[in-house]
Amino acid sequence: MSHENNPTMLHTLEAGSDWHVLPAFLPLPGMGGLAINAFLHKGSEPVLVDTGLAALGDSFLDALEAEIDLTDLRWIWLSHTDADHIGNLSRILERAPKARVVTSFLGMGKMGLLGLDVSRVHLLEPGARLTLGDRELVPLRPPYYDAPETLGFFDTRSRTLFAADSFGALLPQPAGSVREIATSTLRDGLVAWSAIDAPWLATADRAALGRALHGLERLAPTTVLSGHLPVAEGGVEELTAMVHSAWCSGPGTGIDPQAIETVAEALGDAIGLPTQSAAASLVGSSR
Ligand SMILES: [Fe+2]
Ligand SMILES: [Fe+2]
Repeated sequence: MSHENNPTMLHTLEAGSDWHVLPAFLPLPGMGGLAINAFLHKGSEPVLVDTGLAALGDSFLDALEAEIDLTDLRWIWLSHTDADHIGNLSRILERAPKARVVTSFLGMGKMGLLGLDVSRVHLLEPGARLTLGDRELVPLRPPYYDAPETLGFFDTRSRTLFAADSFGALLPQPAGSVREIATSTLRDGLVAWSAIDAPWLATADRAALGRALHGLERLAPTTVLSGHLPVAEGGVEELTAMVHSAWCSGPGTGIDPQAIETVAEALGDAIGLPTQSAAASLVGSSR
């Protein structure tokens, strides 16, 4: 992997009024690249959402500790246990003695299989909520995902939606906001990534997927956070419309199967796994 294809930590950004983005960009040769985001809320009970790539460990921790004294961190919300979301979990837990890990029963089990410390897990099954003083994070299952333990959330105070891997997009270069991206570029990149990360969309029940997308629209989030998309501050409807047109109303997208291998190879280099393992991580353990 050449130097220019290494993942890069980018400058921390604000996302709406209440959240910060700790963004990174993973180049994927021949395909542009993919945002790898974590998020931080610095309220009375600070929450970190996901923990970035292990390959960016020092620079990720530097960016995080520039925003918060980790001894103040109370929660680490794990969207799921893929390597691009839990890469620095152990290092952060060492520096954040008061932090507890929010995940589902399956997420805890997969943490155990990975040899991670589960003694500080706070189990949160769908239907429960995480109360944080001035707000609740209401867990929700995003419309598509690559690991069955995936937990997104809706922040009831800021009306911020965290969609985990949903709405990720392959992009030609990093961006701070989806407003910087041409509509056609965003649509093509979003559809391509969804086909790679959730290939089961091709055989999903279109009506059920449509209902899930409309459900997000009814939430009317002001800001959408995705692990793999720049911040979307214009709400969710542009994104749901792109997913709907790709997967609910026509034939498959015809994504080249070679694209999955290309992404797996680049991701494997970034997280230190052989291509086969990275491909398994990309497509999730449920398949
Ligand atoms: Fe994932
Ligand atoms: Fe991911």
